[in-house]
Amino acid sequence: MDEVIRINKLTKVFNGLVAVNNVSFVINEGKIFGLLGPNGAGKTTTIRMLTGIIEPTSGDIEIFGLNIKKHLLEIKEKIGVLPELANPYMDLSAWENIMIMADLYNLDKKVKISRANEYLELFGLSEFRQKKVKGFSKGMKQRLQIIMALIHEPRLLFLDEPTTGLDIQSVKLIRDIIKEKNVKEKTTIFLTTHNIAEASVLCDRVAIMDKGKILICDSPINLQKIFTSTQSLEIMFDTSSKDISFIPEYLSSRVEAKELISGIEISKDRDAIKIYTFDPVSLIAPVLEFSKANGLKISSVNTYGPSLEEVFLKIINEGG
Ligand SMILES: Nc1ncnc2c1ncn2[C@@H]1O[C@H](COP(=O)(O)OP(=O)(O)OP(=O)(O)O)[C@@H](O)[C@H]1O
Ligand SMILES: [Mg+2]
Repeated sequence: MDEVIRINKLTKVFNGLVAVNNVSFVINEGKIFGLLGPNGAGKTTTIRMLTGIIEPTSGDIEIFGLNIKKHLLEIKEKIGVLPELANPYMDLSAWENIMIMADLYNLDKKVKISRANEYLELFGLSEFRQKKVKGFSKGMKQRLQIIMALIHEPRLLFLDEPTTGLDIQSVKLIRDIIKEKNVKEKTTIFLTTHNIAEASVLCDRVAIMDKGKILICDSPINLQKIFTSTQSLEIMFDTSSKDISFIPEYLSSRVEAKELISGIEISKDRDAIKIYTFDPVSLIAPVLEFSKANGLKISSVNTYGPSLEEVFLKIINEGG
């Protein structure tokens, strides 16, 4: 399989701050690679180096086997980029914005018109094609910006947090199209996200980045064990309720419940309990049973997906 991206010991230092620290990886053709990390991890800095916006402090980048220092223009023709801070021209229409991009790549008139129509339809923006972008919602702007990144049908697409801050419909549409582009056209995709679920459903391989370093890089299936055990179930009790400190002991005495639990915390005010588990839903029944039998009044029950902070703690604790 052909290598599309190869980076070796990539480092970027901004005035003494090491934003990207000695990062190396290879991405093969037709894969979706996800860089997952919290704010300030170094994701955007990595993308900006890979797309030739900024130069690395040290390290090498090869895209399609070409060294970025020597072949930047050639590489730029083959890649599409959705930047972190995407700005279409606000006083122009969606159509005009797409045409500007198409002309930048010297697309043939027929080709650009038919692709623009096809993508506007695909992204649900057909009826807004002649409207000025300044009236667009955040999700509409993002969808337009992705069309602009796709108009020259790049073999490699960089998406910097394509779905952050968007509503559920826009998120689903964008994820479906990313997947479809990859499956049907074998487009290689490099995306960043701080959403574990997004990385898990979309990517073939996920690198978890924090403070400029890659902590672990693996398939979502292999990372699932780390992700799922950091889900949690939180139960809040009526503050006038009785003592809840017996709950951990009770759950530990129930074999079927005990096997599901990786940790239990009681809140400082002793009015809530948080259970870390890979199966929050199955633990609701035993907790409800116990509470009922002991006259404890529940005020709320919440389940939480894995949080990045807990995933990091787990990786660090396990020396992963
Ligand atoms: N041009 C710059 N000058 C100085 N420091 C910068 C610059 N760009 C980024 N940084 C710093 O580098 C670090 C990594 O930033 P980066 O934007 O790459 O993180 P990120 O993972 O994309 O975060 P987010 O999820 O918030 O987008 C941060 O500490 C940031 O403040
Ligand atoms: Mg960023």
